[in-house]
Amino acid sequence: MMAPREETLFEVEAYRVRRISREDAPLVRKLGERCLEHIELHYGSPPDPQQLVHDLLTDLPPGKTLADKFGLGVHEGGGWLVGGIDVVRDYPEPGEWYLGLLVLDPRHRARGLGTKLMAELVHWLRGQGARSLRLAVSEHNESGRRFWERQGFEPVKQVIAEFGNKQSVFHVMRRTLEER
Ligand SMILES: CC(C)(COP(=O)(O)OP(=O)(O)OC[C@H]1O[C@@H](n2cnc3c(N)ncnc32)[C@H](O)[C@@H]1OP(=O)(O)O)[C@@H](O)C(=O)NCCC(=O)NCCS
Repeated sequence: MMAPREETLFEVEAYRVRRISREDAPLVRKLGERCLEHIELHYGSPPDPQQLVHDLLTDLPPGKTLADKFGLGVHEGGGWLVGGIDVVRDYPEPGEWYLGLLVLDPRHRARGLGTKLMAELVHWLRGQGARSLRLAVSEHNESGRRFWERQGFEPVKQVIAEFGNKQSVFHVMRRTLEER
């Protein structure tokens, strides 16, 4: 018997967002193969497409458990995976959530999908009781930083972090989720 599919948490047009499960690992790896430039930006060379599977299924900030992790997949109508989102509840403090990853298949970028996904994610996060959202964007990701600024994120601090064999400066940013 097939494992029951994860429920849809929110939708954007024909795209459905649901939790990534172990069964999705091959699809996630394929997405990783299409997003190697993004993986390389953070982890250095050679980029490993399996990294996205780790990011969405197991990666956790210090002191957190999988109960607080939501590795989400953005699926097209037919089920094909076009994006990944990772959020962690109550990190670094209660009420604040941490967005560890937002990545789209390059063919689905620059058409407004990221903006629409963020709007629905924010709505869903409010429903979960989140009051603010934090993230860190690499100094090597200028367009990523512009995207977050347009989404209302403001700089908190800069930190140096090492992933894989690459050390980078990261801009930590946050935005409130309170309705203004
Ligand atoms: C960052 C990311 C998730 C944004 O998603 P997206 O769907 O590309 O974002 P949008 O389309 O809403 O906006 C991005 C760009 O498209 C432009 N754009 C928005 N709507 C558009 C539309 N309807 N038609 C054409 N261009 C559009 C925006 O002006 C913006 O341009 P800029 O980055 O050159 O300033 C996606 O580009 C991505 O996966 N990038 C690689 C991973 C990454 O950097 N993640 C974030 C850092 S952790």
